[in-house]
Amino acid sequence: MDRWAADYQDRANFLCVGCAGPNLSSQFGQELKLASCINAVCDEGDMPSWGQLGCNGFIVLDGDHKVVKASTSPFQQVRGLAFKHVEALVDALVGGQPVPKFCPGQFVYLQNLNTASLNGELGVCLVQSEDADTRVEVQLQSGRKIKVLPKNLAVASEDDDEEAADADAGSSTAGGCGSGGCSSSDAPSKDGARARDSSSEGGCGSEGGCGSKGGECDGSGGCGQDSKRACTEEQEAAELEPRVPEPRVAVRQLESVKVAEMDEEHERCADAMEVLCRDRTASSLRRVLREFETHFRHEEELLDEHLYSDVVGGGAATGFSADTSARKSHFADHKRILTDIRQECERINSEAADEGAVVPEAFAAQVVAEFEKHADQYDGHYADRMAESVSAKQTATASAAESSASGSGSD
Ligand SMILES: [Fe+2]
Ligand SMILES: [Fe+2]
Repeated sequence: MDRWAADYQDRANFLCVGCAGPNLSSQFGQELKLASCINAVCDEGDMPSWGQLGCNGFIVLDGDHKVVKASTSPFQQVRGLAFKHVEALVDALVGGQPVPKFCPGQFVYLQNLNTASLNGELGVCLVQSEDADTRVEVQLQSGRKIKVLPKNLAVASEDDDEEAADADAGSSTAGGCGSGGCSSSDAPSKDGARARDSSSEGGCGSEGGCGSKGGECDGSGGCGQDSKRACTEEQEAAELEPRVPEPRVAVRQLESVKVAEMDEEHERCADAMEVLCRDRTASSLRRVLREFETHFRHEEELLDEHLYSDVVGGGAATGFSADTSARKSHFADHKRILTDIRQECERINSEAADEGAVVPEAFAAQVVAEFEKHADQYDGHYADRMAESVSAKQTATASAAESSASGSGSD
């Protein structure tokens, strides 16, 4: 945003509004070295009733302060296209042009195509439409790219986007970077077009991976839609490799998050990544996927129980909520990481590769880098609060058991 503010100078203003008090805004401004954009803070009694920032999109207003886009596409869904989306809108406004309907990063539905099976599919525009007769390139949620005329596209409403984001991230309703941060990667994500029907995430791309919900092998004979890879109990058992005995070299020692079971699971993830970097086999990648799925699911349950019970129960403050934003962006980053790995599983399955080192070295390194970055940027932020809550709950449980025991002893 600061770079935009410098680039656009007097033609457009870029406003960063903190909704969690002046201290955090000030810290935010210092850490990000905000020099050109306006860094402001909302008073407690004047909180916005809606909004989103950074990773989860931007609000774009015209010169009359009328909202022309309530939410640009989230970085976590469309990666670098999120920035192009903002730029396309701002460029049009400062140039006195109509705001483009179809531009990079815009979610769209396909409609009225002769190939009826494609109608209704959600996609994301990769380029800006030029005129009614020029085709627009769109990437579908499968990763497939097609070029269609503007008349065959319908803008996905922001309500649709919000519903899809909520479906992705749980029941949160407000956006925000939360405690996390935007990845530096500029690569558009194949997850850019968010699934409206989770059944379309087949194979290792299915929710929970390995052909069944919950990350467990269903024994149905394949990790995808075919049986290229037998997924027998024996094979799955063989993949449950022991912990890495030698010191790790590919994955650094992760910071403790002060909750023993989370630290233990992080170590299991790190061990699996170590094996992946060493062997780069399909089975080592599937093991990483299983460890990540198990850990992310458990971590989200603990976070909802200890930190976000108000958000989940609908008791969070109306309007902007730091917890709602933190939950949304943290859980979305889990999903992004899993999606990347599932897509690589699918690629390997589709190539019917042998059991050698089929995972590219660069991908294995990327998995490690993404996990380490996530642990620093998201998990590190819950450590103190979660540890405090877990400890308080354990103390309460212990004293309840004690009084129950002493009560029954007095009878
Ligand atoms: Fe996490
Ligand atoms: Fe974690």
